[in-house]
Amino acid sequence: TEKIYILAIESSCDDTSAAILCNNKVLSNVVTTQEIHRQYGGVVPELASRAHQQNIVPVVHQALAKANIDKKQLSAIAFTRGPGLMGSLLVGTSFAKSMALGLNIPLIEVNHMEAHILAHFIDDEEMVAPSFPFLAMTISGGHTQIVKVNDYFDMEVLGETLDDAVGEAFDKSAKLMGLPYPGGPLVDKHAKNGNPHTFKFPKPKVEGLNFSFSGLKTSILYFLQRETKENPNFVEENIDDFCASVQYTILEILMGKLELAAEQTGIKQVAIGGGVAANSGIRARLTEAQEKLGWKTYIPKFQYCTDNAGMIGIVGYLKFKEGLFTNQSIAAKARYAI
Ligand code: KG4
Ligand code: ZN
Repeated sequence: TEKIYILAIESSCDDTSAAILCNNKVLSNVVTTQEIHRQYGGVVPELASRAHQQNIVPVVHQALAKANIDKKQLSAIAFTRGPGLMGSLLVGTSFAKSMALGLNIPLIEVNHMEAHILAHFIDDEEMVAPSFPFLAMTISGGHTQIVKVNDYFDMEVLGETLDDAVGEAFDKSAKLMGLPYPGGPLVDKHAKNGNPHTFKFPKPKVEGLNFSFSGLKTSILYFLQRETKENPNFVEENIDDFCASVQYTILEILMGKLELAAEQTGIKQVAIGGGVAANSGIRARLTEAQEKLGWKTYIPKFQYCTDNAGMIGIVGYLKFKEGLFTNQSIAAKARYAI
């Protein structure tokens, strides 16, 4: 059978990544995380574009070297067209166009949100691909979305966040407790030793399958202001129970919407992705749902959950097979719906 080699480029936010795929197998997947943003407690767009500019060539060289592939063997180049930060997207888009032009090979544009979902189809012995139709929930520092996936390129967004992403809710809550950025993994860690029912936070009232997380952040802020006035050591003394309670509230919101989506569509195959899929609480809740609700759940390997070019490459391969190429006049799109 024919071997298709794809070079994939991802630069939508703060990770510069390049991957090489041979058909649906990932041969290399290099990700450079930009440490510069840590000191600011969030991604600074201007700094992100500059870092992409510096990282892109070395990252592509590394991806080729690790895969032991010469650039002359490449069949096509796939890149993230959007959604994301415009300055960041422009670096990957311009690079991909130039390299495809130089090598005289086809160019494939990829929607980052579709890629998070299609990452489940990377051929990997530790992963099982869901069958159509399935529900996909993408949860990360930048996204919170529930999608009905009918086929590779037939998807419907059923609901999404109206304000903050779920990862931001984790990170902002952590920041209020004085934990460093990104606080999500630390909340998860403390939550393991705490009682999730110690503190109660109101759940947002949002119709249908959309989400809202900005109210939670505000109620946590007021709660902490009140408590620390009475006891300045409140956070230190209660960090485990506090993290467990915050995480419990967030998981109740996510699982509530996911269950509603399953009910409305009658679909019991549920796939999740994005950085927050690493959360041990959500993993436990999904396992529980397999037993209690008869769901089949899917979580890709962690390296394919967070932003990475491997997931862009699998979309590149699927589009290559369909002949879905794009031309050199293509432009990046900061807002780009599925
Ligand atoms: O997908 P990702 O690496 O980057 C994007 O935002 O696109 O996701 C990062 C987000 C951060 O908000 C981080 O705090 C969160 O995922 N995160 C977690 C955990 N690991 C990462 N949140 C909760 N529990 C975790 N274990
Ligand atoms: Zn992402």
